[in-house]
Amino acid sequence: MNHYFTNNDKLKSEKRIINYEYNSYSFSFVSDNGVFSKDKIDYGSKLLIDTYLKNKKEIKNFLDVGCGYGFISIVLSKILKVPGVGIDINLRALELAQENQKLNKVSVSFKESNIYEKINDKYSLIITNPPIRAGKDIVLKILGEAKEYLTDDGEVWFVIRKDQGALSIKKELEKIYSLDIKEKSKGFLIFLAKKN
Ligand SMILES: C[S@@+](CC[C@H](N)C(=O)[O-])C[C@H]1O[C@@H](n2cnc3c(N)ncnc32)[C@H](O)[C@@H]1O
Repeated sequence: MNHYFTNNDKLKSEKRIINYEYNSYSFSFVSDNGVFSKDKIDYGSKLLIDTYLKNKKEIKNFLDVGCGYGFISIVLSKILKVPGVGIDINLRALELAQENQKLNKVSVSFKESNIYEKINDKYSLIITNPPIRAGKDIVLKILGEAKEYLTDDGEVWFVIRKDQGALSIKKELEKIYSLDIKEKSKGFLIFLAKKN
C-alpha cells in the first residue's frame, strides 16, 4: 500500500501548483502524486504556521521535521529570514521541496533523514505536522526526541487532530515537557512544548 511517506519511483508524476498567501507574501508550491496533501495546503499546517507566527519570539534557526514539499520551511524562511533545515524520508517530497525553495527564492537545507538520524545541531524552533499515519510510536519519537535537538530556551510547535489521538499524545509528552495548547480549530490542536 502506498502512503505519503513511502518511496515509490513508479508512481506517475502529475505535477501541479498550489498558491498560498500570507499577509503581503505570495507563495507557489509544486506538488505531485505520492506526497502529503498533494492538492492543497493542509489546514493543520496552515493553522500551525498562523498560530506560530502570531506567537513567535526571536529565533536563531529552525528544524521542520517531516517537511514534505516544503510548505512550513519555505514560509518560515521567507518571513523570519533565519537558517532552516527541513527533513523527510520521502524522496519525491524532498525533490519538490528543493524545486519550491528556488521558486520562492529562499534558502532552506532540505535533506533525507529518518527522524533525527542525520541531525547533529540544536535549534531554537522545531516545528512539525507529524506523520500520524506512520503510527503513534513514530509520532512520539519525533516529538519526544525533539528535546535533544532543542536549545535550552527552544520551542517545539506541532499540530495534531483531536480525533487522531492528540489528547493521549499530550498525556505522554507532559511527562517530559511543559505543554500548552495555543489554538483549536476544526478539530485541530496546536501545541507548544518547552523544556521543563
Ligand atoms: C503530515 S506530513 C507533513 C508534510 C509537510 N510538513 C506539510 O505540512 O505539508 C508528514 C511528513 O512526515 C514525513 N515522514 C514520515 N515518516 C518520517 C520519518 N520517519 N522521518 C522523517 N519524516 C517522516 C512524511 O513523508 C510526510 O512528508
